[in-house]
Amino acid sequence: MKLDEALDLIAEVPDFPEPGVLFRDLSPLFADGPGFAAVADALAETLDPAAEAVAGVEARGFLLAAAVGYSRGMGVVLVRKPGKLPSVAGRVDYSLEYGTASVELPANVVKPGQRIAIMDDVLATGGTVAATAKLLEDAGATVTGVSVVLELAALNGRTALDGRTVHTLRTV
Ligand code: PRP
Repeated sequence: MKLDEALDLIAEVPDFPEPGVLFRDLSPLFADGPGFAAVADALAETLDPAAEAVAGVEARGFLLAAAVGYSRGMGVVLVRKPGKLPSVAGRVDYSLEYGTASVELPANVVKPGQRIAIMDDVLATGGTVAATAKLLEDAGATVTGVSVVLELAALNGRTALDGRTVHTLRTV
């Protein structure tokens, strides 16, 4: 399936999770075999050749990082919402488009100097990815770049990621 056709599978849901927010639902894309493959392949193409592992942000980022990591023979670093991990290497709190959130890194996963690419589904305010990058860098990793399926341009996520390499499959 062509990438554009795959990205057209993303649904728009008005007024979710609160009035005035247009939610981008990737569920139909994930559920479509050829569509998911096209997007995973396109994300894999954005990887910096120096990347040694892929970090995925819970929950939808896990799917993308797992697909890309598997296809490239790389491990996946799970960046988790709080309270899930028995042993934590670090935690970063941040503001979300709606509310606040935190991300945590499992202990003994990231190696000092390891070069890691970040994957997520949507770049909105950039808070999640910025927090993830800080989390990885605090653990001694180098972030090679950020790859997302969808960038919501109006929310200026790139500003929060100033200077980082950001790859986006579609900007809306
Ligand atoms: C969504 C999305 C990104 C983040 C983008 O995650 O998957 O991770 O928000 O927003 P930001 O750029 O403003 O930080 P959500 O917290 O809804 O988690 P989910 O994947 O578990 O649904």
